[in-house]
Amino acid sequence: MAESKLTGDVFYPPEEIIRHAHARDWGTMAAAAEKDLEGFWAKEANELHWFEHWEKVLDESKKPFYQWFVGGKTNIAYNCLDRHTATARRNKLALMWEGEKGEFRSFSYFALRREVCRFANILRSLGVQKGDRVTIYMGRIPELPIAMLACARIGAIHSVVYGGFTVEALAERIDDSQSKVLITCDGAYQRGKVVPLKQIADEALQRAATVESVLVVRRTGEPVNMEQGRDMWYHELMALPIAGNSCHIETMDAEDPLFLLYTSGTTGKPKAILHTHGGYMVGTYTTLKYVFDIHDADRYWCAADPGWITGHSYIVYGPLLNGATSFMYEGAPTYPYPNRWWSMIEKYGINILYTAPTAIRGLMRFGEAWPNRYDLSSLRLLGSVGEPINPEAWKWYHRVIGKGKCPIMDTWWQTETGMFMITPFPSVPLKPGSGTRPFPGVKMDIYNEEGKPVGIDEEGFLVITTPWPAMMRTIYKDPERYVNQYWSKYPGAYLTGDSAKRDVDGYFWVIGRVDDVLKVSGYRLGTAEIESALVSHPAVAEAAAIGLPHEVKGNAIHAYVILKTGIEKHDRLEEELRNHVAHEMGPIAKPETIQFVDSLPKTRSGKIMRRVLKARALGQEPKDLSTLEE
Ligand code: PRX
Repeated sequence: MAESKLTGDVFYPPEEIIRHAHARDWGTMAAAAEKDLEGFWAKEANELHWFEHWEKVLDESKKPFYQWFVGGKTNIAYNCLDRHTATARRNKLALMWEGEKGEFRSFSYFALRREVCRFANILRSLGVQKGDRVTIYMGRIPELPIAMLACARIGAIHSVVYGGFTVEALAERIDDSQSKVLITCDGAYQRGKVVPLKQIADEALQRAATVESVLVVRRTGEPVNMEQGRDMWYHELMALPIAGNSCHIETMDAEDPLFLLYTSGTTGKPKAILHTHGGYMVGTYTTLKYVFDIHDADRYWCAADPGWITGHSYIVYGPLLNGATSFMYEGAPTYPYPNRWWSMIEKYGINILYTAPTAIRGLMRFGEAWPNRYDLSSLRLLGSVGEPINPEAWKWYHRVIGKGKCPIMDTWWQTETGMFMITPFPSVPLKPGSGTRPFPGVKMDIYNEEGKPVGIDEEGFLVITTPWPAMMRTIYKDPERYVNQYWSKYPGAYLTGDSAKRDVDGYFWVIGRVDDVLKVSGYRLGTAEIESALVSHPAVAEAAAIGLPHEVKGNAIHAYVILKTGIEKHDRLEEELRNHVAHEMGPIAKPETIQFVDSLPKTRSGKIMRRVLKARALGQEPKDLSTLEE
């Protein structure tokens, strides 16, 4: 493609960025991957350590249950830590952390490995074995990645639950995964306040009965209830002789599970997305290396939460696999003032910043004077993820934060994909709002209802038409749902749930979800979960939740509620219901407004027609009402 003749608003990368890049020529790399997909991924996999080499790169015989690096033996935690401690990188910083109150902690590769080994020994001594599930529910503190890596080291499957979720969301995830161990902390700091995680966990454990041991990291020092025989302090366990500095590493098959991560689907309960040691490792390693152009001297900051896929792949696993220095910050971007992020970039000399459009829009509101007071010249690359970035936010980010010289990597991907799928490289021309093209070796398309590719600039269903190493393997305990949800609409193609367009230059423009999944401040929530939280309140008979555009959050939740007969609406009821959702699911799921109604638009088969509610709320004519009941 003649990149000099691109249409629209185009930003060309500076020469020095291209010169610095691992991949200077996207086209050659994409062509090589197109010609030999297995060879392309095998070359990357060979840069990592395998206890035993694979026999086959890709096995498609049981598709859509694809298998990668079949017969290969490895362990992702070995590749994150031991591979580096065996080299001069052992003294390099693996993790740098700043607490919301300003404390600083750091771990060299050597130190991080030691902590992980000690904690892995503790888990083993509690009887955790290969294949057991361990739930992790914490704030953004270093013990969270330590716990994840310790699980990986001994072959346990971690299930991290975002610290912003609350009672029912946590209980449901513990119960579904049948975890025997819960790792949590006394509390987490958020905007100067303490979120009582242990107290929330105690309440959740009354609803989920499988947990035998609770390990508690002391973060805030606030008093918490410790149940005898069940609850133990992390620091006390880590001081025991059994927490030795070395720990036998489990040999994992490439296809052995690494983690479960629950994410919202179209209906019902959240789904446990399952990722593996081998393919996920190769996918996250490769994508981060090329897209954020990781070099040894870099200080890289992904400002997501480790409790979501972005944090799993690109705070913890991807950076450590690349031997990078990953920076993690505990608190809110604007606490105590809107200078917080910019001051940390200056203080730590951050080179790469990866965040979400909602955070950029939130910081934009405070004006340029805040970032302009800081020296942000260490920045080389910027990134965006989680929802489409509006061109206004893109340009502000590019001009004010990147000073016009830092390309923005707008990466489209999902919990299910494990790794970046549509993404620029530092060397490619950018268009604000487009993630450019699929990663080399990844083929994507946009289909109409009948499964035919749509024309240029036409909207359709975004699909993936090649397997990729970091792809989810299944929904834990529910392979049928995996097939139905992702692979049944179009044979041979993975359905993303997003709609998109492609322009004349082949650039993809993702528009948004086409199902009942909402992106609120970049967080993925299902309308079904919000509705079930509302219905669990004794006053509510039925509920419907929709997302309406919001300047900072992207979407805000609005709910419609039918009260049970005999319940009188009173002044405080709306507030009570909003708080009830926050208590059951988490503050991120709290509806902006609740409207009390007598009926909800439904199809003849009884499904709520949320699009009708949405159209009405936006003052539009709802399209196609042929299935409406009345
Ligand atoms: O709708 C897309 C949106 O986020 C969804 C996936 O959400 P989740 O599994 O929580 O993972 C988020 C982080 C990888 C997608 O289906 N999305 C993610 N990145 C982008 C995006 N939409 C537009 N542009 C993006 N860069």
